[in-house]
Amino acid sequence: MLNFSLSDDQIALRDMVRKFVQQDIIPNAAKFDESGEFPRDLINKAWEMGLMNIAIPEKFGGMGLGIIEDVVISEELGAGCLGMTTSIAVNTLALYPILIGGTEAQIEEFAVPFLSSPKLAAFCLTEPGSGSDAGSLSTMAKEEGDHFVVNGSKMWITNAGHAELFTVFCTTNKDLKTKGIICLVIPANTPGISLGKHENKLGQRCSDTRAVTLENVRVPKKNMIGKFGEGFKIAMRTLDRTRTPIAAGAVGAARSAMTYAKNYSKERKQFGQPIANFQAIQFMLADMAVNIESARLLCYKSAWLIDNGQEEQGGYFSALAKRHAADMAMEAATNAVQIYGGYGYTKEYPVEKIMRDVKLVQIYEGTSQIQRVVIARHLLKD
Ligand code: CAA
Repeated sequence: MLNFSLSDDQIALRDMVRKFVQQDIIPNAAKFDESGEFPRDLINKAWEMGLMNIAIPEKFGGMGLGIIEDVVISEELGAGCLGMTTSIAVNTLALYPILIGGTEAQIEEFAVPFLSSPKLAAFCLTEPGSGSDAGSLSTMAKEEGDHFVVNGSKMWITNAGHAELFTVFCTTNKDLKTKGIICLVIPANTPGISLGKHENKLGQRCSDTRAVTLENVRVPKKNMIGKFGEGFKIAMRTLDRTRTPIAAGAVGAARSAMTYAKNYSKERKQFGQPIANFQAIQFMLADMAVNIESARLLCYKSAWLIDNGQEEQGGYFSALAKRHAADMAMEAATNAVQIYGGYGYTKEYPVEKIMRDVKLVQIYEGTSQIQRVVIARHLLKD
């Protein structure tokens, strides 16, 4: 049976997040964008409302919510501020490797404490020399008795400056390529970890993005998630789950861009009439609507597949969703600025921020080009 309705619980969740966005996020978004300050109080509030760490299963005291709920939350947050959306979403990204590959004891030790206070975590895959080619990472974990000794550098790590826990992907033998990669859970206060400066970004300026350097960091072997060589697959399976909520954030941002542009086009008069009367404007708005609706449907389908155990198909659909949502949101935001004309290019109006913010969605969690690689490989395999 095909059903396009959200459940009553999902509608209540959506409405709660929408209210939070209207009351707390939208009035503060421009201020945090301007200063680049980390919105700690708003993150704490999101945690109190139960919008973080939502995937921790019920048997561990968590909410055990699925990707569908993550999509519902992310679209609403994305309609307010993508920088805040990313800061909130990255805890789920960082904890998924533990939930996917960890033992019950590891979930208890590393993930469950996130339910009792608004702590942050960071996912450390990317390096200065390995972004899209994640399998070529060089951070080295050398075995030494019952420990690993980790050396290397991670780059563009969201939440790094505020995280208490890192999930770090390292290699034990670069010759083994992806099969040499392991996943380690490393508390942020472990000696040998140092943080770079807060990156001064084009958009999503309030999300905290830094380099993380690891120098002779000693990590107990019990902190390895999964078996030797399973790290890469754990990272890929994590991204299969998180690319869809990230895509949903872009849907929310595009929805806001369309709403602002639509309202403005009805007020702004040129040639003696509201510019909404002109077909050039109507076509831009119509294309935004088509793309937003289709991207949202891809998000729901991708989420549904993963929530219903169809992981491989879900991974394919998460790439479809992220490719489409990121690129369409960029187009929608750019056209919203176009509809506002000169005013849209100033910080007096909200659309230029959306344009700067959505650009990052075409880059992080796998670029739009990497999503096409994933899609094409799926299409071309036997
Ligand atoms: N699920 C399970 N296993 C998978 C998988 C998946 N989705 N994708 C690949 N694998 C397996 C393959 O089956 C293969 O297994 P075998 O060795 O047993 O055959 C193994 O992993 C290696 O796969 P590939 O040969 O396909 O690997 P590759 O080196 O060609 O890379 C890639 C594939 C898709 C390009 C991958 O490198 C990739 O996704 N790159 C992008 C990285 C990325 O998204 N980074 C984002 C960082 S996080 C971030 O941005 C967060 C933030 O700031 C907010």
